[in-house]
Amino acid sequence: MIALPAGSFALVTGASAGIGEAIARGLARRKVPQLLVARSEEKLVALAAELRSLSGVAVEAIVLDLASEGSAERLFAATEGAGKPVGLLVNNAGFGFYGPDEEQELDRKLRMLKLNVGTLVELTHRLLAPMRARGGGYVLNVASTAAFLPVPYMAVYAATKAFVLSYSQALHEELSGRGVVVTALCPGTTRTDFHRVAGLAPGAKNPFPSLSAETVAEAGLRGLERGKAIVVPNLFDSAWIFTGRFVPRTLPPRIGAAVFSRLKRAKPI
Ligand SMILES: NC(=O)c1ccc[n+]([C@@H]2O[C@H](COP(=O)([O-])OP(=O)(O)OC[C@H]3O[C@@H](n4cnc5c(N)ncnc54)[C@H](OP(=O)(O)O)[C@@H]3O)[C@@H](O)[C@H]2O)c1
Repeated sequence: MIALPAGSFALVTGASAGIGEAIARGLARRKVPQLLVARSEEKLVALAAELRSLSGVAVEAIVLDLASEGSAERLFAATEGAGKPVGLLVNNAGFGFYGPDEEQELDRKLRMLKLNVGTLVELTHRLLAPMRARGGGYVLNVASTAAFLPVPYMAVYAATKAFVLSYSQALHEELSGRGVVVTALCPGTTRTDFHRVAGLAPGAKNPFPSLSAETVAEAGLRGLERGKAIVVPNLFDSAWIFTGRFVPRTLPPRIGAAVFSRLKRAKPI
């Protein structure tokens, strides 16, 4: 069970769609008060209202571009700084890119680094201190199965997720026994807008077995409740991650290159 001190909130980034929305719905079922963050104001405000009425607890929307300069500081001011303590931080907002590395604009790469890594580290840094001072809390970081190997044609994205996994696992150990649970959720292919945003052509077939956002979110929340360091929701992914340990390090990226170079692409969003 996720037990937050009275008066504190779960802060969910990227809550307007996909896995983040499903996590927010899972937390609402658990009657956890929430602060939801994303850029799409209309969707976020409607979701907050729906979850407030479903759960009977406070759910508020905070509209913010987390890839913008100073966004983590502004979010800290809008939460802890505004008397809304954060007992559970869900670092979920993120995006990717499918295609040759040289075709990805530098600006997009830098925004990806900022959102997937920079803001995640800054929010964790800023919010962990008050969490520890209050005796504990939770951090759920959404990484990816792409964290387990270099992925040609998703080079920067996979590297950001390798960072998230490594950082989360290290923090998990540092904070174990000190009241803070840190869990890395590592979904494989999940049926969300991620692939359209990353530039996969509509109707293009992703060759990997997929899960729904709801299944992934529930696996993440259960893993957090059990104090797990890493959660891989899809058994198929667990199997290849395990097998990958016994093959030469150069082989998985070669297989990845063969698969990902063939995906039909459209303009990323
Ligand atoms: N889907 C997959 O196959 C898959 C697999 C492994 C890992 N993941 C990871 O799962 C996480 C969630 O992705 P998803 O699949 O749910 O994708 P999604 O459906 O595209 O949702 C992404 C969420 O992030 C928010 N977001 C994007 N840019 C933002 C920004 N600059 N500031 C604030 N919020 C922002 C979006 O809201 P707004 O557009 O309203 O801002 C949306 O709520 C990501 O970290 C992704 O890397 C996804």
